[in-house]
Parts: sequence; structure tokens; C-alpha cells
Amino acid sequence: MSLMGAGSVLEAIDRSKYEVIPIGIAQDGRWVLASAGQRFQIEEGELPAVDTTGAALALPSGGGSLVAYDPGSIPVELGSVDVVFPVMHGPFAEDGTIQGLLEMAGVRYVGSGVLASAVGMDKGHMKTVLAAAGLPIGRYVVVRDRDWRLDRDRVLKEAEEQLGWPVFVKPARAGSSQGISKAHDRAGLEQAVEFARRHDPKVLIEEAMTGREVECAVLESLGDDPPAASAPGEVRVEGGQEFFDFEAKYYPDQMSLTVPAGIPAEAAEELRAMAVRAFEALECEGLARVDFFYTPEGRLVLNEINTMPGFTSLSVAPQLWAASGLPYPALVDRLVQLALNRSPGLR
Ligand SMILES: Nc1ncnc2c1ncn2[C@@H]1O[C@H](COP(=O)(O)OP(=O)(O)O)[C@@H](O)[C@H]1O
Ligand SMILES: [Mg+2]
Repeated sequence: MSLMGAGSVLEAIDRSKYEVIPIGIAQDGRWVLASAGQRFQIEEGELPAVDTTGAALALPSGGGSLVAYDPGSIPVELGSVDVVFPVMHGPFAEDGTIQGLLEMAGVRYVGSGVLASAVGMDKGHMKTVLAAAGLPIGRYVVVRDRDWRLDRDRVLKEAEEQLGWPVFVKPARAGSSQGISKAHDRAGLEQAVEFARRHDPKVLIEEAMTGREVECAVLESLGDDPPAASAPGEVRVEGGQEFFDFEAKYYPDQMSLTVPAGIPAEAAEELRAMAVRAFEALECEGLARVDFFYTPEGRLVLNEINTMPGFTSLSVAPQLWAASGLPYPALVDRLVQLALNRSPGLR
């Protein structure tokens, strides 16, 4: 999925400034040097997949040197890596695990560190941190594996009492709308929890918000200035789906973005300030996208923060920054520079 983002970065990054080594991570976790034939675009409705014919790569701990190895042959050191630009989504990508691996390898990387990534990935912990920072979030119930297995009736009753109908049900740690569905009654909720549990034994049930979806991208500053918020943009589903599902996110014609969002100026300013507070509450780095609902009554509710937002040149966060005066190639460069300015280890 993130191959599309990687393709965009490869096109936009300044080759006179950086020597770029594209690395793919296969389904089974192997790192491979991107082959010449690697596809980065959707073709005939098919999302691209990592071509695993390239040389196998490893980044051993300490030293930050990339090693190519093929079974039965002598490993070859390819040289030291100054910075890694992770362009990927979901578990092992934006949950702090790859960030931890890069910390141990002593290599700097673009974007949030281990803690912010892990908190941002877990919708339960994310809400705890956002609420502690005084940010407005919707009502929700967390369903842990034990609760569900041992006393499902109590969970269903509690959700109904606390949230009413309809509700949104989602895996705590998945992303890209995977495992998310809407439930209108107890039977539907039971099914929805089972569906979410295919992705994660920890599940969230949330009150359904109505209104518009408005998103804002936050970018760390190069100097000592606080992080900056982009213009907010409104996203709309075009394909007739009930909400932003996986398809709407990866097939660009199924979604529309309007920048700036058509909300009152004070609401837009408040939203931007909240987006920065969310970024700071999680201690994010680099770039994040903060997603809100703007209710018919004019209330702002924070839905989530994405520490590794979609990053093709047409994705929401890059589009928001482009509309705010920072074109995609400059955004790519800024993120690399931010990462290079950091020293590996504790910050
Ligand atoms: N509580 C909710 N009320 C209304 N719509 C929701 C709610 N939660 C999620 N959605 C819809 O589902 C989409 C995906 O949910 P989200 O929490 O953003 O998960 P993901 O991390 O997979 O993007 C949202 O963009 C929105 O359209
Ligand atoms: Mg989302």
C-alpha cells in the first residue's frame, strides 16, 4: 500500500542532494533492494506489491551500515545510512517497532519516535493521552480480549447504555479503515466486534459522530518554533460508501478534498490550535495528520492522529501542505532535514 507513497517520494526527492536506496519490506518481513521492475502505481485496479527478487538487505544493530546478503554468499556492506525515510503504514510500520529497530541500529529516521508511534497506533491509548491534554474526543468503550471472551453480554449492555446507537467499531491497532464497521443494534454490534477482532483482539466501540470530516497536517519546525498547522481541509467520500473505508483511501478518485475546509474562520483557527496540541501531547516528530469531526452544531471532536499519514503526492497531508505554501518536494526535503538534524538516541 505504502509503495504508492514510496513511489511519490522517489520521484520528488532531490537526487543531487541525496543518494537514495529504495528498500521494500516483503509480506514475510524480509527487506529487499527494490528491483528495477518494482511497480509503485495501481495498475488495472491492482495495488502494487513488493517485488522480492532484489538482494536481501539487513541493517544490523550499531553502526548504521546496510548489508546485502544472499543465502550461500558472502555479505556485502553497502555503506552507512544517514537517514531512513519510512513510507509505510500499519503494524510494524507506524507502531514504534521499525522506529525501535532503527534506534538500535543507530540510524536517524523521518517522523515520530517509538513512543509517539506506539501511542498513535493504539486508538485506546491515543484517546487517553488526547483526553489528558484536554482535547475533545467522542465517547467510547474499550473491549479487551478477556472482556469479550468471558462476559460478552456485559460488554454489549455497557456499550448500549453508554453510547446508544449507532456506534462505530474498530480494531485498536489496524489503520487504513481495516476492520471498521458501523452497528445499529446489539446483533450488529456483536458481528462488528467479531469483525474488528480479526485484526486485533483489542477493540474500540465509539459513539457515531455526525457532521463533516476535517483534517489538518502538523509539521515540526526546523528551528525552535513550535510545530505549524496547515490549512484544514474537508474530506468527502465520493463512492457512495457510508464512511472512509479502505477503498476510499487508496483509490484517489473515491475521495475529494476541499482546502480550505468550508467551516467558520474561528472554528478553523481552533482546529489548527488543537491539531498542534495533539501533536505535542503525543510528542510527535516530523509530520502528523490530525482528523476531526465538525458536528452540525459546530462542535469540534478529535477523531484521531496519524503519525505516519498517507504520503503520496496526492494524499491529504501533502495536499494540505501544498495548499499552505509548501509543495510536495519541499515537504519531502523538510522531513529529511528534520531527521538529519536529530542525534540518534534519547531526545
Ligand atoms: N466515531 C465515529 N463516528 C463517525 N464516523 C467514524 C467514527 N469513527 C470512524 N469513522 C469513520 O471511519 C473512518 C475511519 O476511522 P478511523 O478512526 O479514522 O480509522 P483509521 O485509523 O483506520 O483511519 C473515518 O474517517 C470516518 O469516516
Ligand atoms: Mg482515519
